[in-house]
Amino acid sequence: MIEVKNLIKYFGPVMAVDRISFDVGRGEIVGFLGPIGAGKTTTMRILTGYLPATSGIAKVAGHDVMHESTQVRQNIGYLPESVPLYPEMRVEEYVHFRAKLKGMSRVERNRRVEYCLDRCRLITVRRRLLGTLSKGYRQRVGLADAMIASPPILILDEPTAGLDPLQIRETLALIKELGDKHTVLLSTHILSEVEAICERVIIIANGRLGLSQRLDEIESESMVLVEARGPADGVTNVLQGIKGIVSVQTKGADDGVTRFEVRTEEQKDVREEVSQGIASKGWTLRRLERKTRRLEDAFFDVLRAQDPLKQPPPPGARTESTPPAPTPPSEAITK
Ligand SMILES: Nc1ncnc2c1ncn2[C@@H]1O[C@H](COP(=O)(O)OP(=O)(O)OP(=O)(O)O)[C@@H](O)[C@H]1O
Ligand SMILES: [Mg+2]
Repeated sequence: MIEVKNLIKYFGPVMAVDRISFDVGRGEIVGFLGPIGAGKTTTMRILTGYLPATSGIAKVAGHDVMHESTQVRQNIGYLPESVPLYPEMRVEEYVHFRAKLKGMSRVERNRRVEYCLDRCRLITVRRRLLGTLSKGYRQRVGLADAMIASPPILILDEPTAGLDPLQIRETLALIKELGDKHTVLLSTHILSEVEAICERVIIIANGRLGLSQRLDEIESESMVLVEARGPADGVTNVLQGIKGIVSVQTKGADDGVTRFEVRTEEQKDVREEVSQGIASKGWTLRRLERKTRRLEDAFFDVLRAQDPLKQPPPPGARTESTPPAPTPPSEAITK
């Protein structure tokens, strides 16, 4: 439903989008992640026809965003990062107005406006002037606008920004439900939101694509954190020789102890083999901890790959460890 190939966008000398390629299939809910200034909004604005790309291909429902912008707009509901509203209009009046602009018939309009006001919890403020709404309500009006014509594709730029925790929960539930009938691309800075409702994640940083992977694939990868006192090269060789270990990365050293991150085959627990291998050489272990890879790990891996000087984050969640594991944050906020 969404196809992006070698997309490039320059703002003057600033390259905001750097040869990004990805696809979003019919009915998928995809989380679009990246640190601030990564290029998420720019990519979304290109997809919705609000911005021209410098080069590359962007297609929505099979239509090229540059040359078939009318068809693209007919297939898309877009919630922009900051919702532009006419302050002197009332909520209900505005949603009706938008429905009319989108070419809906009066009968259909009346039915859909009621439905969307209800789904976006706007009934109680339906006669309020838009200019007097709080940020959260403005966001809900934007969402009602995006879904009013029931477009097959929803592009939602930070749909939960500015909402309180209850509203966030309701909005996520609504988006998940919309995912039954619609293809959804949504950006957010809250990784737990993606874990809650998305099937796949696309992570960009510095305008470049870092990862496009299903969440269940990310979580099926496990890893072991090893800290060993011994020669780094020697320990690496021992680890690489253990069956089930896919890769060994050195993560730094202090006080003669080297840290390694070891990726293993799916769900394989190699801790006993690691322990025996290190001990057989007369070296010692300071840490041996099995972790399920989480979205947070994948996110910070992308950041590190784009900027190797970036410090690793505090250790993440779902640990099975020999020494006690640190408590994971309940949600990772990246903004
Ligand atoms: N209209 C513009 N003119 C000049 N530079 C721009 C413009 N819009 C975006 N940029 C630059 O392009 C880069 C990407 O910005 P973009 O808004 O797409 O990032 P983002 O991933 O949406 O960030 P955030 O998470 O803060 O919303 C940034 O360096 C930004 O400063
Ligand atoms: Mg943005």
